[in-house]
Amino acid sequence: MLFIGNLKSYLSEIGQVDTLAKALNRLVKQSKHEIVLAPSFPHLGYLAAKKHDFALAAQDISLYEEGAHTGEVTGESLRSLGVSYVLVGHSERRNMGESNEVISQKVSRALDSGLKVIFAIGEEERDSHGNYLSFITEQLLSVLGKRDPAILKNIILAYEPVWAIGKDADEVITAHDLEEMILFIRKIIAERIDEKYASKVKIIYGGSVSADNVEGLIIPHIHGFLPGRASSTPETFSALIKAVT
Ligand code: PGA
Repeated sequence: MLFIGNLKSYLSEIGQVDTLAKALNRLVKQSKHEIVLAPSFPHLGYLAAKKHDFALAAQDISLYEEGAHTGEVTGESLRSLGVSYVLVGHSERRNMGESNEVISQKVSRALDSGLKVIFAIGEEERDSHGNYLSFITEQLLSVLGKRDPAILKNIILAYEPVWAIGKDADEVITAHDLEEMILFIRKIIAERIDEKYASKVKIIYGGSVSADNVEGLIIPHIHGFLPGRASSTPETFSALIKAVT
């Protein structure tokens, strides 16, 4: 399984990052799972310069390739650090104004820089008319729809329903609803994008995943998890990974 820790802006002190990285280095050796950490940009640079046995992901990427764009972090600079993944489409960035159009451009920029994309999708809320399914379909098609099928293999999908993010362990999605959504996503991809990609794409789940609820979320065809808060301390991240045997 794939575990991608989205540290968001949880850690400020470099000592906290060091302690977490040391714990993950130990964990990688004992575990059969693939572990990825997505720290803030300064911490990403710091970790990239040190020995790390887990992979690194960026939480964002610039739309620009290079040039006079103050404050932007380009895909090329991430690649040159040895960063493997970029998270694109997270709901917290969508809430800051990133449209499907911008997200699609960022995905292109990441792929052009040789990075793998963790493409996050998820509805704000569920309604009894199934409008949330059209919402998910639009998120998928607007970003994946026009791409060369050969490049799609570099895109992992993270299904993160917004209503389940940052909640208590017992407010997480049910295994039944998660399984249904994963089937739905694969069906849309098979019918509207590419059949081969639909059968192969890795789909991970994010939204209040922790050691307390992860076992209940291990359903067929799930490839891993994208924890936020639970990834921010060595204790909670280790416990989460160890809970999945
Ligand atoms: P959470 O965050 O695990 O704290 O809910 C997940 C995410 O937003 O990626």
